[in-house]
Amino acid sequence: RPPVTLARIAEMHAAGEQIVMVTAYDHPSARAAERAGVDMILVGDSAAQVVLGYDGTAPVSLDEMLMLARAVRRAVRTAFVVVDLPFGATELSDEQAVASSLRLVKEAGADAVKLEGGQPARLSRIRAIVAAGIPVVGHIGLTPQTATALGGLRAQGRTVDTALRVSQEALDVEAAGAIALVVEAVPAAVVAEIRGALGIPLIGIGAGAADGQVLVHHDLLGITAGRTARFVKQYAALGDAMAEGIATYATEVRAGEFPSAEHTYPVADDVLDQVRA
Ligand code: KIV
Ligand code: NA
Repeated sequence: RPPVTLARIAEMHAAGEQIVMVTAYDHPSARAAERAGVDMILVGDSAAQVVLGYDGTAPVSLDEMLMLARAVRRAVRTAFVVVDLPFGATELSDEQAVASSLRLVKEAGADAVKLEGGQPARLSRIRAIVAAGIPVVGHIGLTPQTATALGGLRAQGRTVDTALRVSQEALDVEAAGAIALVVEAVPAAVVAEIRGALGIPLIGIGAGAADGQVLVHHDLLGITAGRTARFVKQYAALGDAMAEGIATYATEVRAGEFPSAEHTYPVADDVLDQVRA
């Protein structure tokens, strides 16, 4: 497969082909996504929770995102790699947002960066990053970095006020120059309205039908601990498989069954005789 470029993404969108995106945070998760033939990989700041064990996405740093993104980049040949700008990496100024984005591109090989929100200051950041020559993916609806201000991790656009706000933000983010837009946790019927008015591909998560979909690696593979959001579909139960594999290993070690001869190095008798002598 040839590498997925911006032109290819636009082509898929024009042809009505679904754009498949999944998150990855390290070499094996990125390799699995590559093997599966996804179009776009997101190094999401959801890493904060699913990989690093933080309570929310706000604590993860730009340096932590860079380390994860570099591991992903080393595994990817064809997918288009988008890296999240974490909370705190863009809030101070347009200049800070450009500097953070440049690090993700230069130090981790990001093909594009993703930025949450569609309020005026966010739009200014998008314009500045785009002006610096870096493609930007927007993210509206439920924006976890500022979830506290939204009243928690809850669906957006279920009231007239929030539905109008999300719709306006979608148009504004497109006008600011974003190449695609992630919409999270918004009713499908509201998303359908937005989609009809938008020229860029809309990537949904908990947003019903869109131009593409994105899910978190650990959610879709059943690795995430505890309850997941309504919009998650679990396609495997790897968390259970991982714990079972390690439990079997522990049982065999304790019983003296592991390692057996096949996992042990043999040595010639004459070598052994001389060692013993
Ligand atoms: O960080 C993330 O995984 C995301 C997706 C849920 C869109 O932003
Ligand atoms: Na994110």
